[in-house]
Amino acid sequence: MSKPDDLLTIEAKRPRFGPLTIASILTVVIFALDFEIRPGTGLGALYVVPVLLVSYAGPPYYAFYGAWVSSLLIAVRLLPYPLAELQPAVPINRFTALVVVWTTATIVYRLRQTATERSAIARDLADMKYALDQSAIVATTNTKGTITFVNDKFCEISKYPREELLGQDHRLLNSGFHPKEFMRDLWVTIANGRIWRGEIRNRAKDGAIYWVDTTIVPFLDDLGKPYQYMAIRYEITDRKRSEELLREQAALARLGEMAAVVAHEVKNPIAGIRGALQVIVSRMTGDPRDRSVIGDIIARLDALNGIVQDLLVYARPRQLKREPVDLRSLITSIIGLLRRDPTFAAMQVDVSGEPQPVSADPEQLRLVLQNVLMNAAQAMGGQGAIEIALSCEPGTCRIDIRDHGPGMTPEVIEKAFDAFFTTKHRGTGLGLPIARRVVEAHGGHIGIRPALGGGTVVAIEFGTPPALLRA
Ligand SMILES: Nc1ncnc2c1ncn2[C@@H]1O[C@H](COP(=O)(O)OP(=O)(O)OP(=O)(O)O)[C@@H](O)[C@H]1O
Ligand SMILES: [Mg+2]
Repeated sequence: MSKPDDLLTIEAKRPRFGPLTIASILTVVIFALDFEIRPGTGLGALYVVPVLLVSYAGPPYYAFYGAWVSSLLIAVRLLPYPLAELQPAVPINRFTALVVVWTTATIVYRLRQTATERSAIARDLADMKYALDQSAIVATTNTKGTITFVNDKFCEISKYPREELLGQDHRLLNSGFHPKEFMRDLWVTIANGRIWRGEIRNRAKDGAIYWVDTTIVPFLDDLGKPYQYMAIRYEITDRKRSEELLREQAALARLGEMAAVVAHEVKNPIAGIRGALQVIVSRMTGDPRDRSVIGDIIARLDALNGIVQDLLVYARPRQLKREPVDLRSLITSIIGLLRRDPTFAAMQVDVSGEPQPVSADPEQLRLVLQNVLMNAAQAMGGQGAIEIALSCEPGTCRIDIRDHGPGMTPEVIEKAFDAFFTTKHRGTGLGLPIARRVVEAHGGHIGIRPALGGGTVVAIEFGTPPALLRA
């Protein structure tokens, strides 16, 4: 980018000939008059005019060039002259003229010097601001936390136009991730005039999450009290994502080890106990209430077994055995299973669209759809209709599962795929994490969005077999 200020500086250093010419002509005129007019006049002081002109014709020190030339011409008139009618000037007048010329030159020099320094500082500041704006996300707020300035990068990352940010406070971008104490500590630090540094997770206008490495600098007044805060931020979303991924992988590895132990130490005894209970039930002849108690125990054991199984699937995914899977018949069989549960017996499921076979491990794909359909049925309390829309094009098949339940808040959507996150009394919080792990292992995608008119849509995308791609 061009810097017009630099051009101005070069201009200022180059002598301007207009004022110099006028100053030269004036000097000659004053000198001639000085000879003409009778001695004793204070005409020498008129040299200040060419001195002023010269001093503005180039850099500040030009004022002294003018002063030297004028001094010489003033002093010349003190010499005795051979012509009888030309008397030397009165020394005191000459002296006064010299004082006036030099004082003027010095004042002009100082004023111009200060102005030059000021414009250099202003230029440096403008350069620094330009560099900062190019590299960082910058905002200033007043002491009440109201945003008073944002740079272009701030608008770019937050996706808010400037006018929607100015006058608001930073809570507009709050992602609800940081605890209250974190924010309190930030405010206490800067309100006490100290610099705060940290990493903040924000939410953009479109709901996207971004992380910023933040430094907030308080500007203090003469009494040492902050009157404004400047926040300088750098985006670190990618770094945070890879850190999170690493942590997730480490946690999964630990969970995998634990799951192996659980499988061995819990699953086998459960199977043993269940078998023994079934034998006891088959031999029981007495009170039917005892049978029902044992039936309850067996049901609880099955639930426990299911949790251990989920944990295993999540923590130790097995090798995929891909084959072309017919979506419609898979969905029909899952719905059949779902309806066996009396709570969901009345559940309606409408399937629309023309499916193509997808390339997937049928057992694992069953797990995905089972979990998502179960969530939809639970959200609707076993009443009403779930809509499944299948849309396939060469290469991919998309399954949109829509329910008419209470829907999910943005906070729940954000956490729904975290392992063990549940809002249900008896939930394990492994259904959606398992679904995501399986879908991603297949190279597909799964996402959640609120449905228009209420409820939730879970969208799953799977690849179709390569043979179909070629067809
Ligand atoms: N269709 C939906 N409607 C509303 N909320 C949902 C829906 N699907 C998932 N959720 C929310 O997401 C959370 C996580 O779902 P997930 O399937 O992972 O676990 P869960 O259903 O609670 O337990 P689990 O499936 O392990 O028995 C749920 O607790 C619920 O709050
Ligand atoms: Mg679930």
